Amino acid sequence: MFANMLVKSALLASFAISATNAIATITTLGNKFFDSDGNQFFMKGVAYQLTEKDPLINEDQCKLDASLMKDLGANTIRVYHVDASGDHDGCMSAFSDAGIYLLVDLDTFNTAINPIVASWNQTQFERYSAVMDAFANYDNTMGFFVGNEVVALNNQSLAAPYVKAAARDLKAYRNSKNYREIPVGYSAADIAELRPMLQNYLACGTNSSESIDMFGLNAYEWCGDVNLQTSGYDTLNTYAKSLNIPIFFSETGCNTNRPRTFDDQSAILGPDMNDNWSGAIVYEWIQEANTYGLISYGSTVAATAVATNVQGGFSIAGTPTPVSPDFSNLQAQWKTLTPSGVQSSTFTPSITAPACPASTSGGWLVDGDVKLPSVGETEVTGTATATATATTSGTVSATGTAASASATGKKGGANTNGGKEVAGMAVGLAGVMVGFIYWL
Ligand SMILES: *[C@@H]1O[C@H](CO)[C@@H](O)[C@H](O)[C@H]1NC(C)=O
Ligand SMILES: *[C@@H]1O[C@H](CO)[C@@H](O)[C@H](O)[C@H]1NC(C)=O
Ligand SMILES: *[C@@H]1O[C@H](CO)[C@@H](O)[C@H](O)[C@H]1NC(C)=O
Ligand SMILES: *[C@@H]1O[C@H](CO)[C@@H](O)[C@H](O)[C@H]1NC(C)=O
Repeated sequence: MFANMLVKSALLASFAISATNAIATITTLGNKFFDSDGNQFFMKGVAYQLTEKDPLINEDQCKLDASLMKDLGANTIRVYHVDASGDHDGCMSAFSDAGIYLLVDLDTFNTAINPIVASWNQTQFERYSAVMDAFANYDNTMGFFVGNEVVALNNQSLAAPYVKAAARDLKAYRNSKNYREIPVGYSAADIAELRPMLQNYLACGTNSSESIDMFGLNAYEWCGDVNLQTSGYDTLNTYAKSLNIPIFFSETGCNTNRPRTFDDQSAILGPDMNDNWSGAIVYEWIQEANTYGLISYGSTVAATAVATNVQGGFSIAGTPTPVSPDFSNLQAQWKTLTPSGVQSSTFTPSITAPACPASTSGGWLVDGDVKLPSVGETEVTGTATATATATTSGTVSATGTAASASATGKKGGANTNGGKEVAGMAVGLAGVMVGFIYWL
């Protein structure tokens, strides 16, 4: 009787495993992603956030979108904000059935790490871990971000230890809950003065429990008829070569030259870059005022129109229709780009973690492998440097962020909408200065 029950529960358990493993799970090994069948994984993704609401609740909508994304050739979506208490089963199956993985940001609108008054506190930890709880058991969850563009100006680099502390605590939480090793990473603004310090800092150190598992770069450098050199991608490539964790474009797709040809995809997924990059997420699925959309849900109306499923003059739900010719241009690119990479069984990681960068005058402000803040700690102690002094006296370069103007109007993460971002910068300066004075 007892033995019989054991057999039965073993059968049930194995059934449960095969039933949930409808899609191979993904994790990292060295600087690459691999699926559980041993194949290297390259992202062909789209940013999927229809409104500020959780886009992974409405199963019918997800099915419509997943089906067209499959036609597009996408295998990944990136979602910026979800409601941890929502039911995501329907949407996650719809995407899984279409062979599509999810990268999801753990912060919610009001819990993102604020570079102005950097904090990593219990409220944030609880909200981030609730999102992890909500998604960790789906096999097509391929990664979590602890922050999106938290450091959005070169002089906000002192917020980086808070990002790293968040990664440390969410990785520890993942392990304590026996979730599989879903990568925990960061999605960075493309700031010329902080390359490669920010990526190296988040990956550096001798204790991998305290560093990120993957690094995403939101880069809009490739605009129009450029090439590897003139776009600046060869510079990005140089920095990627020394990174020990996977690096990819967590947003890309400059739209200043129309129509968009997505030529950068052939660089990223082709032999110039696919040795050290893991693909790209194209910004974005829905057409809205920022005109990055790959599809629209209907014709536009007056921005002031009040109607069901219309926001800012754009339809936000329904049957997706490709934006022409952008959609088919991207589809054509992806169709020809199918890097096979290496098998995990034949791959031995050879790149070691980069050194923690020293601070530089007017640039990177975190000096080396500083002690990370613990939960609830509001200031990093012991990081005050000569650089900080120089910064307060105003010698910081004013070239600011390299994330181009083309990227304004994105509704991504910490520094989301345009207006807020501008206000944030002004307040940011005061906040950073208060921080320095506190430390000095
Ligand atoms: C925690 O951090 C968030 C985000 O910066 C902030 O809104 C909140 O007030 C903080 N909570 C506490 C208790 O400090
Ligand atoms: C590595 O970091 C984790 C998380 O901070 C900590 O618990 C652990 O003790 C560290 N290991 C070593 C060898 O320092
Ligand atoms: C990828 O990185 C390795 C290690 O740094 C380097 O030897 C190799 O040339 C890089 N591949 C490409 C295509 O840049
Ligand atoms: C931070 O950078 C901005 C833009 O580059 C600049 O205007 C500001 O003065 C800097 N803030 C500080 C505290 O140096």
